[in-house]
Amino acid sequence: MNSNVIWHDTECGAYAADLEAWERLASESEGPILELGCGTGRVALHLARRGHEVWAVDLDAELIAALGERAAADGLPVHTERADVRQLDLGREFGLVIAAMQFIQMIGAEPERVDALRRVAAHLQPGGRLAAAILDGLPRDLWDAPAPLPDVREVDGRVYSSLPADLIADGQRLELRRLRQEISVDGTMAETEHAESLWLLDADSLERETAAAGLEARNRIQVPPMNGYIGSVIVVAEWVR
Ligand SMILES: C[S@@+](CC[C@H](N)C(=O)[O-])C[C@H]1O[C@@H](n2cnc3c(N)ncnc32)[C@H](O)[C@@H]1O
Repeated sequence: MNSNVIWHDTECGAYAADLEAWERLASESEGPILELGCGTGRVALHLARRGHEVWAVDLDAELIAALGERAAADGLPVHTERADVRQLDLGREFGLVIAAMQFIQMIGAEPERVDALRRVAAHLQPGGRLAAAILDGLPRDLWDAPAPLPDVREVDGRVYSSLPADLIADGQRLELRRLRQEISVDGTMAETEHAESLWLLDADSLERETAAAGLEARNRIQVPPMNGYIGSVIVVAEWVR
């Protein structure tokens, strides 16, 4: 397994607070589901194991390949596509498109995001829904929460630990800095810093943006804080032609 995949699994793999919400949305929809920014398939595999056919898209070739291998090994109905959601063109429509773990906040500032939402709308069948999980504004929990524990995973005797070390908000973006530590079998440790950033967004603004892309806001689902992860909100909007 390559280190990009291992770090992705380490930092995203244990999050489970949203799975029940995706399951519920999937059970209310018909036909295949499209997941945007699927990574190694935390959600896609979960839904496929529950009998849903999933189309899973990610920009990262290594992550999408790992998902394809895992789905094939378990005989699960997951179709993988390496694609940039900003230029998405799968040539088919879905009853449900999901974007988990703040994916929609990774694809750009408002103009770029609205363009991407238009691409997504073009992949929805009439009555189809987009459900996107976001960090709603700058929740107080972000600053008030106790110091987080590291995400840890062991692969082939090596221990991978990723500690959220700092959060920086600059008005438009929120940057999460992590300290990644890799401990080899002989106890040698290698440390690197890693940063990822999200565009700040709130549920009202996302609903306004989905409206600009032709989608009507339907409901919001609260995802509770769990095991050191703060809560989020899933904004659901419908394609009404
Ligand atoms: C935070 S991870 C979420 C992974 C997965 N959805 C989950 O919930 O575990 C975001 C993923 O979005 C992918 N990504 C970022 N920008 C993208 C883009 N423009 N198009 C497609 N995928 C993108 C990244 O490669 C990464 O795998």
